[in-house]
Amino acid sequence: MDSAPRTPVTAVIVVAAGSGQRLGYGMPKAKVPLGGDSILTHALRGVAAAGIARQICVAIPPGDPELHALCEAFAQDLKAERRRAGHAGDGGQLPVVTIVDGGATRAESVRAALAALLPATEAVLVHDAARALTPEAVFHRVSQALAAGALAVIPVMPVVDTVKTAEPATGGGAAIAPELVTGTAARETLRAVQTPQGFELATLRRAHDAAASFDAGQAAAVTDDAMLVELLSVPVYAVRGASQSLKITTPLDLIIAEGLLEGPLGARWVEG
Ligand code: CTP
Ligand code: MG
Repeated sequence: MDSAPRTPVTAVIVVAAGSGQRLGYGMPKAKVPLGGDSILTHALRGVAAAGIARQICVAIPPGDPELHALCEAFAQDLKAERRRAGHAGDGGQLPVVTIVDGGATRAESVRAALAALLPATEAVLVHDAARALTPEAVFHRVSQALAAGALAVIPVMPVVDTVKTAEPATGGGAAIAPELVTGTAARETLRAVQTPQGFELATLRRAHDAAASFDAGQAAAVTDDAMLVELLSVPVYAVRGASQSLKITTPLDLIIAEGLLEGPLGARWVEG
């Protein structure tokens, strides 16, 4: 008997509805050029190359015609590629591409996408379009953990900096420096968290249903999906991420991403 775990029917949500304030291009970050294409195009190609998605559901800024057209073109390219590869006909594992209007926060964008998943979906990976160069291997590690029974799994990296807590300096201290250190975190226990984050679909839906009633302060503190699942006391597993899976947030990150694309190792090089 085959003891290999069955791969659940998987959708990948790509959240691309942010405005890219910190990158400062005056346009949604998904549109910003990277190596001759847009950040979103790179991200979508990475998802498709991983070959794990029955559906790719993209959340874009509401009513953005350019990003809508970009997603449509990506879907057409996928079909054309598949035809060239000789899989014409039923389309095989060709993923369905769905486009939804994102929300005012990342979590709202995820919720909009969750509402548009195909009924057969069993597992979902939520991926930041801003992590445009995530290697296939990271998608596979997350997907494999879900197939092995995880309800939630995230890709992580060790933290290289020493991390301290601090608060505003008060009294006479404020005349010396703006902040006072309050402690040092144990670095070996810290992990920097990336995407794609993988979930059993019902678990992520439950987590987001609970978060839909958060007040503005609580909502602002939600920076990833796994923390919502942690609030349900569901165990969240971690697999190795990749340094080239950096989130393009600031102009420096964009320079690094350009460098990765031009570098001798290629964009989807994965450290061992
Ligand atoms: N995102 C989203 N909907 C939002 C906010 C963010 O889909 N309302 C997505 C972004 O498009 C991005 C990912 O969530 O792919 C991570 O967010 P971040 O890096 O913060 O992107 P932006 O919000 O666009 O950037 P900034 O915070 O600098 O404005
Ligand atoms: Mg943001």
